[in-house]
Amino acid sequence: MQLTTLDHPLAKHYLTVLRDQKTEPEEFRNAARRLCYSLVMEATRDLPTEEVTIKTPLEETTGYRSSSVVAIAVLRAGLGLLDAVIDLIPHVKVGFAGVQRNEDTAEPIEYYFKPPDLAEATVLILEPMLATGGSLAWAVGKAKESGATRVICLCVVAAPAGVDHMRREHPDVDIIVAAVDRDLSDRFYIQPGLGDMGDRLFGTT
Ligand code: URA
Repeated sequence: MQLTTLDHPLAKHYLTVLRDQKTEPEEFRNAARRLCYSLVMEATRDLPTEEVTIKTPLEETTGYRSSSVVAIAVLRAGLGLLDAVIDLIPHVKVGFAGVQRNEDTAEPIEYYFKPPDLAEATVLILEPMLATGGSLAWAVGKAKESGATRVICLCVVAAPAGVDHMRREHPDVDIIVAAVDRDLSDRFYIQPGLGDMGDRLFGTT
């Protein structure tokens, strides 16, 4: 498993906006979208392309077209990354994975999974908070059961425990993250983290 941590000043800037407890939902959503552009660019660095012949206004030349991409947003927080993915990859097909965590044990409880056709696609799993790794490992497992062979996870913040979990359960998938934080609280929140991503995106705190 390859873990890539973004090293870009603008990614650091937007992550700081997300971490700041004073950031209100509208600004939070904008910062999540802007940070996600960097996650997508990094995640698609090795995206297969097809060579095509096109004509510029001057002459014939060789161009490249992206192969198929599927994004699976893990509800709710993954929705905060979806706009940037659709903006950069307009031909993306989108699936949704509904998982709730048991607040006492952090075990994932599935309530919904609806992927598009995953065969031959590069599959991007959008799960901003990689805490214990339970939800992400579950979502990747479901994607693989549905035919995904090339899976890349887009995360905003990860805890070392979540990274270890993914390394054990899915050593074949890559993870792109803006930061790996110190640890988890006793309620399984990432520290220093940014709080509950879903609540902060949608103003439900
Ligand atoms: N989910 C969140 O939204 N935040 C965390 O810190 C951990 C899981």
